Amino acid sequence: VVVTKGAYLTSAVKKEQYPEVKRPEFVFIGRSNVGKSSLINSLTRVTNLARVSRQPGKTQTINYFEVGLKIDGSEERTDFYLVDLPGYGYAKTGKENRKIWKKFIDEYLLNSESIQFVCQLIDIRHDPMQSDIDMFRWLVTNGLPVLVIATKTDKLSRSAAQKQIARMKQVLGVPELDILPYSSLKNEGRSELLDSIATSLIK
Ligand code: GTP
Ligand code: MG
Repeated sequence: VVVTKGAYLTSAVKKEQYPEVKRPEFVFIGRSNVGKSSLINSLTRVTNLARVSRQPGKTQTINYFEVGLKIDGSEERTDFYLVDLPGYGYAKTGKENRKIWKKFIDEYLLNSESIQFVCQLIDIRHDPMQSDIDMFRWLVTNGLPVLVIATKTDKLSRSAAQKQIARMKQVLGVPELDILPYSSLKNEGRSELLDSIATSLIK
């Protein structure tokens, strides 16, 4: 699988602003600072495609990136969207902001008919927090396919990372869950995620 294109398309905070051209969507959700925007850059290999910041709360809108893949053995390029969402659970944004967040993210997740799966990112260094558990349950309850991704694996040793992934499954309450380890710094997990995307595109 080869990524042949990666470009910012548009941003939205309401339905009327979603892209006119419908394409399969792969969504990235997670707490502020967990590494959503960095993952999009690592996946597309376009530096600074999605804006990254050490300051939590960088991404404020639903951001669509148009990406093309060439699946091995095929001449044709398949285009789809990677969708970067603002992070949840950022204390400083305040209650009012959180309400607004919840409104337009829920609206998006419940109304977009093009979502293939939602990647829920959780920092491998910590146990999933209550907001992660709530989000995971909400996605599952609403019938959205979820792929849990453990981010920043480069921050832990291999054995510590494995232990923590086992913990994450426990805390999320799904012992048989598949969790994908990912490091945007080292591109670990990149080819696995591209394969999952490709598989879902050819279905
Ligand atoms: P918001 O837009 O605020 O919700 O954050 P985000 O989830 O998009 O996080 P972002 O990609 O902006 O990254 C936050 C910080 O984590 C930045 O300082 C990144 O450099 C760092 N970071 C992201 N991914 C990795 C990773 O795989 N390894 C390491 N070591 N740092 C990472
Ligand atoms: Mg971001």
